[in-house]
Amino acid sequence: MARKKIALVGAGMIGGTLAHLAAMKEMGDVVLFDIAEGMPAGKALDLSQAGPVEGFDANLKGTSDYKDIAGADVVIVTAGVPRKPGMSRDDLLGINLKVMKAVGEGIKANCPDAFVICITNPLDAMVWALREFSGLPHNKVVGMAGVLDSARFRHFLAEEFDVSMEDVTAFVLGGHGDTMVPILEYSTVAGIPVPDLIKMGWSTQEKMDAIVDRTRKGGGEIVQLLGNGSAYYAPATSAIQMAEAYLKDKKRVLPCAAHLTGQYGVDGLYVGVPIVIGANGVERVVEIELNDEAKVNFQVSVDAVKELLEACKGIDSSLA
Ligand code: APR
Repeated sequence: MARKKIALVGAGMIGGTLAHLAAMKEMGDVVLFDIAEGMPAGKALDLSQAGPVEGFDANLKGTSDYKDIAGADVVIVTAGVPRKPGMSRDDLLGINLKVMKAVGEGIKANCPDAFVICITNPLDAMVWALREFSGLPHNKVVGMAGVLDSARFRHFLAEEFDVSMEDVTAFVLGGHGDTMVPILEYSTVAGIPVPDLIKMGWSTQEKMDAIVDRTRKGGGEIVQLLGNGSAYYAPATSAIQMAEAYLKDKKRVLPCAAHLTGQYGVDGLYVGVPIVIGANGVERVVEIELNDEAKVNFQVSVDAVKELLEACKGIDSSLA
């Protein structure tokens, strides 16, 4: 059986880390695509030369030609530009929308059967636009945000409770970052819900609130510390988990930006919800009963996404 093929569109900080992880895990052959000349080929060559030391077998290729992503089984998209000082949200939207258009058309022409994971920000709008431009089925295009947000949440909870991160699960809904909606009742240590842990004296509501707040601002905290760029290790590893769920038909239950058709009262938008990812892409949207507070917070998230989509439609009339 031929190796799987993983195309990484955008070979920057996250793209390079994705390539490293995909090769180390022998997920398949890797194509690094970027508009920057030379750089993707340089990264591919460097990573290939890690192969003999690590003992992985994967062909890595860098390219600026969309034809090289032909037949990819998975495409992970990080192409785009970050927001720079002085740039308005609409400036950023305009630039990254154009990028999504080029990427969507490249995918449509070369690998329409791929499972596509979008990471480019602003995530909930970009994944929607990428789906529109590519024309792929909605179950084959998802956004990576919830796995990262919940990983950040799990990290902080594990530190607070002084237990293994492996034993902490977190349940988050809604948009990426600021509008993330953590559901504490469904976040657990070895199955024990956080509210019960508070009752057991393991922590306090105040500390939980502070952790939720830090998680929401988790990306910004790293941007501040790095001084030049944004997080890349955890975002890459989160997307790889989603890719593996698809390639290995694992039917993982993961929080992702998925297209909703009435679930949670939302129709036609991409919003962060738990989904089952298997060989058919998004196989199921997990719809839970929300309490009143979560409903209000989720609606804030949905409204923020709607507003972004309206802005996108204003910028590119083909999306209207
Ligand atoms: N086609 C392909 N690649 C492109 C295009 C395009 N039209 N436009 C820009 N790129 C490439 C850039 O050349 C760059 O190498 O996308 C890459 C982005 O990499 P970085 O700037 O290093 O950004 P990174 O940290 O990887 O984050 C990528 O993910 O989390 C989000 O907010 C983040 O939107 C950003 C994305």
